[in-house]
Amino acid sequence: MSLVAVREADLGPERAKVTSQSLLAQKRSGAAITSLTAYDYPTARLVDEAGIDMVLVGDSLGMAVLGHSDTLSVTMEEMLHHARAVRRGVQRALLVVDMPFGSYQVSQEETLRNGLRLVKEAGAEAVKLEGGALSHASSVRVLTEAEVPVVGHIGLTPQSVHRMGGYRVQGRSVEAVARLREEALRLEDAGAIALVLEGIPRELARAITAELTIPTIGIGAGPECDGQILVFHDLFDLSFRKPPKFVRSFGDAGAMMRAGLEAFREAVEERSFPADAESYHLPAQVSLEEPVELKGR
Ligand code: KIV
Repeated sequence: MSLVAVREADLGPERAKVTSQSLLAQKRSGAAITSLTAYDYPTARLVDEAGIDMVLVGDSLGMAVLGHSDTLSVTMEEMLHHARAVRRGVQRALLVVDMPFGSYQVSQEETLRNGLRLVKEAGAEAVKLEGGALSHASSVRVLTEAEVPVVGHIGLTPQSVHRMGGYRVQGRSVEAVARLREEALRLEDAGAIALVLEGIPRELARAITAELTIPTIGIGAGPECDGQILVFHDLFDLSFRKPPKFVRSFGDAGAMMRAGLEAFREAVEERSFPADAESYHLPAQVSLEEPVELKGR
């Protein structure tokens, strides 16, 4: 029995492994696709065990976990390091890993080498890259032909922050609407298995979703996408910044952790931690009554 078959058997019929094919089937059936980012083993386990369909090791890693102000400095080595940890925590969800800025802009050969590394060294089941220009579509085609499935990403693409002049909603002019609709079709034609739509008007996302056969996953793109994705840390108020309009808080983990940290500090300071029940004890026959001498002096 193959490893995948064993895992599917472990998961049971209602928790069958998510694949690019099952995502397509979800789009066709109208069942919403759920997706979240994860960057380490515990968050990956939590997200996967909650039944989320797609886990993305996003290059938002740079901001959410590494404390950078944008995603541009994230490297292939950092993506590989975090993706390996996430891989160990994900069984059911489709595992997608972002190609970081600079890893697919230089040449098709380098794009392919980096895409293959994410699959071979970190166990990615698909990679994601930003942009819908002709060169991006060629990258999607090259990777797809090499058996590296690709998720596209258009609209507000954070790696283009300097060109965009900030994190601004895209696709509000007649020209921009036409360009984004064309980019979406181009990426589908190049073989993308799904498309992230970020920071675009709801009406445009709805139109693109209707025009594509592959699923769209929205973030700041309204409710009519085939699925929704958010950054894990945004979901739980752990991002230390004013969240964008499209983020909804689903719990204040920061407040819970702050209270716990304060309680720990107080317990240590007042010497109530560790209690006797949290301590190890000598067996009754071992005595500390004998004086100890430093031998060999
Ligand atoms: O890097 C990321 O986290 C992303 C999404 C949130 C879509 O690209």
